[in-house]
Amino acid sequence: MKIAVLAGDGIGPEIIAQAERILLAIKSDGLKFELEPGLLGGCAVDATGEPFPEVTRQLVAQADAVLLGAVGGPRYDSLPREKRPEQGLLAIRKALNLFANLRPAILYPELASASSLKPEIVSGLDILIVRELTGDIYFGQPRGIEQRDGQRVGFNTMIYSETEIRRIAHVAFQAARKRKGRLCSVDKMNVLECTQLWRDVVSETAATYPDVSLSHMLVDNAAMQLVRDPKQFDVIVTGNMFGDILSDEASMLTGSIGMLPSASLDDQNKGLYEPIHGSAPDIAGKNIANPLATILSVAMMLRYTFAQEEAALRIEGAVGKVLAQGYRTHDIFEPGTQKVGTAEMGEAVLASL
Ligand code: NAD
Ligand code: IPM
Ligand code: MN
Repeated sequence: MKIAVLAGDGIGPEIIAQAERILLAIKSDGLKFELEPGLLGGCAVDATGEPFPEVTRQLVAQADAVLLGAVGGPRYDSLPREKRPEQGLLAIRKALNLFANLRPAILYPELASASSLKPEIVSGLDILIVRELTGDIYFGQPRGIEQRDGQRVGFNTMIYSETEIRRIAHVAFQAARKRKGRLCSVDKMNVLECTQLWRDVVSETAATYPDVSLSHMLVDNAAMQLVRDPKQFDVIVTGNMFGDILSDEASMLTGSIGMLPSASLDDQNKGLYEPIHGSAPDIAGKNIANPLATILSVAMMLRYTFAQEEAALRIEGAVGKVLAQGYRTHDIFEPGTQKVGTAEMGEAVLASL
């Protein structure tokens, strides 16, 4: 097995270094794989002029799984859009057909008081956000900024085909079936035709899953309900843009955006695994970033691509243990706890593993 490792920009290399230590520990226990580094994002632009160079394209095409840190940063904000680091990430998702993005928001009990919500509202929280990842307004044509009637106009196209909606709906129904059997589909059908189709197709797909109870919610209400009573949700399925926004919101319920991992899957078991957060340029290079979302993404890789449930549970257990021992990075707001750096947190997880 081959794992492509794309550290990316900002805090990317710092958090990936800790995740790699965990992977190497798992390897020494007998799981066979090779790690191969590659360039994606701003670092790739610096080295080759392209955010998703051809060598990286070949590397990830041949790999069984991809581990990614994060891309982007203010240094690249003035580049033409097609050269931006984020285009590299969007292109890799599209190239590998990674249409299903799983973002679990699980509260470790030790972090109940670090959540931005009251402990009684979040304790026991376990939500899975299933975000469609290769369609929507992110990829729709036409798009652009142009002159019309003597002024600039900016435009994007929100578009989904029923095939795209149906395949992500199946992923979400199947996930709900293995959990508490509740699926909430989030859309904006009161205003947007595209999401009317979303609601229709998700409802049609429900016929195949009589054991799952399906509900629908408008996205503005969903954003509110997530902070009012998040435990009403089991699985949420939504489009690319709403899923992006709602998952950052959901991360804070678990104590920090530095806690949320993700898996981006195709229709086989190939996957890209990355924290949901970005390159955090404001804290890059300081050894203070939280590496746990990336380490938990390694657990998701073992679970989904390598079918090593036991190894995945071991990593998740090790994370729980270091939190129980009181290890916290600076992003976790919990007065009275002792703060450790990125490398120290990685070291602690390794020791507990
Ligand atoms: P961000 O997620 O990078 O940071 C938001 C805030 O959360 C910052 O204050 C940051 O310090 C903090 N934060 C994020 N991850 C953290 C961690 N692991 N530990 C501690 N604190 C953490 O979002 P942003 O500031 O809006 O974006 C910065 C850059 O990252 C932009 O260029 C953006 O396009 C890019 N981005 C990339 C990805 C990705 O590669 N998947 C995701 C989101 C944003
Ligand atoms: C994410 C990020 C990306 C997205 C950006 C960097 C393209 O915010 O992975 O959540 O919007 O999908
Ligand atoms: Mn995002």
